[in-house]
Amino acid sequence: MMKSPATLVATVALALTTALGACGDHGALPDAARADAGFPDATIPPPVGEFPAGFLWGTAIAPYQVEGGLHASDWHQWEARCEVCSGEHADDGPDFWNRYEDDLANAAALHTGALRLGIDWSRIFPTAASFPASPDLDAVRRYHDILAAARAHGLEPMVTLHHFVTPIWLHDLEPKTAKAGWEDPAIIDAFAVWADFCAREFGAEVDWWITINEPLAYVAGGYLSGAFPPGAGLDIDRGILVVMNMIEAHARAYDALHAGDSVDADADGAPALVSIAQHMSAFRPATPGDEESERATEMLRYLLNRIFLDAVVYGALDRNFDMDTDDAGEQVDPMLAGRLDYVGVNYYRLLLGAYIGENNYPLIGLPFGNDLHQQGVDLPSTDFGWPIYAPGFREVLDEAAVYGLPIVITENGLADGDDTLRPRFLLEHLYELARAIQDGLDIRGYYHWSLIDNFEWASGYCPRFGLYHVDFESADRTRRAGEGAEVYRRIIDANTVPVELYGVYPRYPLPSTLCPRVGL
Ligand code: GAL
Repeated sequence: MMKSPATLVATVALALTTALGACGDHGALPDAARADAGFPDATIPPPVGEFPAGFLWGTAIAPYQVEGGLHASDWHQWEARCEVCSGEHADDGPDFWNRYEDDLANAAALHTGALRLGIDWSRIFPTAASFPASPDLDAVRRYHDILAAARAHGLEPMVTLHHFVTPIWLHDLEPKTAKAGWEDPAIIDAFAVWADFCAREFGAEVDWWITINEPLAYVAGGYLSGAFPPGAGLDIDRGILVVMNMIEAHARAYDALHAGDSVDADADGAPALVSIAQHMSAFRPATPGDEESERATEMLRYLLNRIFLDAVVYGALDRNFDMDTDDAGEQVDPMLAGRLDYVGVNYYRLLLGAYIGENNYPLIGLPFGNDLHQQGVDLPSTDFGWPIYAPGFREVLDEAAVYGLPIVITENGLADGDDTLRPRFLLEHLYELARAIQDGLDIRGYYHWSLIDNFEWASGYCPRFGLYHVDFESADRTRRAGEGAEVYRRIIDANTVPVELYGVYPRYPLPSTLCPRVGL
């Protein structure tokens, strides 16, 4: 049925600009934020079952956020242009490119057996002329070294091919030499060639692949809030184009990875397992019972959680974003269907759906349109002002399970510079995960975001997501395990959530830092 795609997508704009950390300073948190999300203070929940044999305990990082030196990328151009960004630079980050040995040893010290990392397209192919015949051989060698070191530390790698960052030769922000990046369908072929290169070059070391990280978040950042390159504000038509091109590109890359990676690196019978990392949120109507609010919530859930997965699992592509696939040109596409081997889920938070009317445009940019504290929602929150809501994790897992595929949590974490929140966050979220497994969901792994503090895109270095905190002032970027690292290791060692730890971390205090959120 036809509805205005702009109406639907504008609803997404409202939610996702805040999901990405848009809209100025947070201000003081109300006392209500002290409330617990899960069990009442000091209540110890009943014991929960063990995680299954072979469960992948991991952490996650992304090239631009940890490596430094990615100067042939659109994000490097963007840092110099972005007016709403922190003004900080990825080059001043944790320098994983040179310090990976220490970081991988630290990952192993947590007793994790898996690591999600990325291989950066612009690092290996810095110019159009280099692609695909003349890769930067030093960069290729370094990635081989990193993968080999990961294996030497007992870490099964999961590799992301695109994590928000595109080579300048495909996405050039300079007006004179402009390139349209993901708006140009030419990127579909190029991405398939990039996937083919990675499959053949790295397939002997890698079995777990992620083609694209958070397609809808990429669009929200680049085309709705404008905090990511190309910095377009509320440009819904261009945003839709990008989503469509990413869906096609994923399907083509899926085929390329399966064709090119025939080596079963971990001898488990599966040489290549391919997915995306899908940003999935829990949703509530801002005004429960209000028809428009409920409708807005369902739209958000569909557009943010489902539209991409529906396309690459069922082949049903909702080209006009109207919440159905019964319009001309939307019939099941066999070139899209069946292009997902597992559902990669990134879960961070709860969002509210509100009535924003047919004429959305004046309302979309409202500051704090989705700030839960401002709307009276009684949840603790992180240094980034994001609400902590572990029951929503279970809701999202149930939603992901609908596809009938194994599920892997490809990201889950929080900004917490002094680790006063992270221990309980881990307990609550992993308890939900264990309970879901106990209830029969097929969940294969959990990757905590992040192994180390890193460059949080437009927000720079204030939000600290690392299990290991990095001293960015020190010459050698000293790493130090936070208290969350210890709790994570204890959970991994027990292979369940030791519920007695709830007594040690009975509540969430107020965050001691409030990081400015930048965007609109
Ligand atoms: C995700 C993203 C990561 C990281 C994380 C924390 O959306 O994939 O790169 O920034 O959020 O905000």
